[in-house]
Amino acid sequence: MASPVLDAEYLKTIEKARRDLRALISSKNCAPIMLRLAWHDAGTYDVKTKTGGPNGSIRTKEEYTHDANKGLQIAIDFCDQVKKKHPRITYADLYQLSGVVAVEVTGGPTIDFRPGRKDSSISPEEGRLPDAKQGTKHLRDIFYRMGLSDKDIVALSGGHTLGKAHQERSGFEGAWTKDPLKFNNSYYVELLKGETEGLLKLPTDKALLEDPVFRRYVELYAKDEDAFFEDYAESHKKLSELGFTPISSFKLDIKTRIILALSVVGVIVAVALVMPQKWSLSP
Ligand code: HEM
Repeated sequence: MASPVLDAEYLKTIEKARRDLRALISSKNCAPIMLRLAWHDAGTYDVKTKTGGPNGSIRTKEEYTHDANKGLQIAIDFCDQVKKKHPRITYADLYQLSGVVAVEVTGGPTIDFRPGRKDSSISPEEGRLPDAKQGTKHLRDIFYRMGLSDKDIVALSGGHTLGKAHQERSGFEGAWTKDPLKFNNSYYVELLKGETEGLLKLPTDKALLEDPVFRRYVELYAKDEDAFFEDYAESHKKLSELGFTPISSFKLDIKTRIILALSVVGVIVAVALVMPQKWSLSP
């Protein structure tokens, strides 16, 4: 499918969708599942074959019925409510925007959102998302395949500051933190505390303590929430833009192009008129 035309109207649609998502996520308390949807749409990216990634393909039955995506139909339906009101927004932009808004409305960092993602209905093969029962090597295999780094792995795992696991979806049960609707650095604080009654630690969470490189970031984020927010915002933006080149895919409509061209000509004319006067005033 083609990229959306990024005219002024599309940018306005994005802002309206953002406002509707803020209201929807606050009223339904669904920030965690919206963030998980954004991550699962993006997290299938393969940097070598340039397949998968944040392209809205998770809306297809073939993909949302993958084992790793159990439960995400709820978030897809919430997003459809917004899509109905703003049909021009691509699913790919809508899912990533909802991830960004989910972090924002729960108190997390502001994440720079650049629109223009194309939709695809081609689903990657099953098995590209991480398996929570595995460890360090698996985490690196999966995230390096996306083109992400060790720092990205640890920062993005902090997304588990929100939400909970559901027995009937993943086979795990419980939340990672005491306040699963608040985005903060408590995921790392709890991780370092060790087993706490009632709180969840997946094998992949524990792996972050075993590896010295990962552990350094866990310790940093547990004691410095600002450092976590800064790195999280950067890694989340990377995740949301895997395989997407915002500038080169910008397609300005003809009206916007003419306005831009006229503005440039206007500046040149203005400079040409002012400069000789300035020179003539010089001694
Ligand atoms: C590092 C590898 C990861 C693994 C193995 C993993 C695994 C899981 C599992 C097993 C669940 C429970 C699903 C359920 O039963 O409902 C879950 C939930 C969740 N994950 Fe991850 N995840 C990973 C990374 C991420 C990342 C990168 C993010 C976002 C930046 C994220 C955000 C979430 C959220 C918000 C939930 C809660 C969903 C809800 O409350 O419904 N996860 N994850």
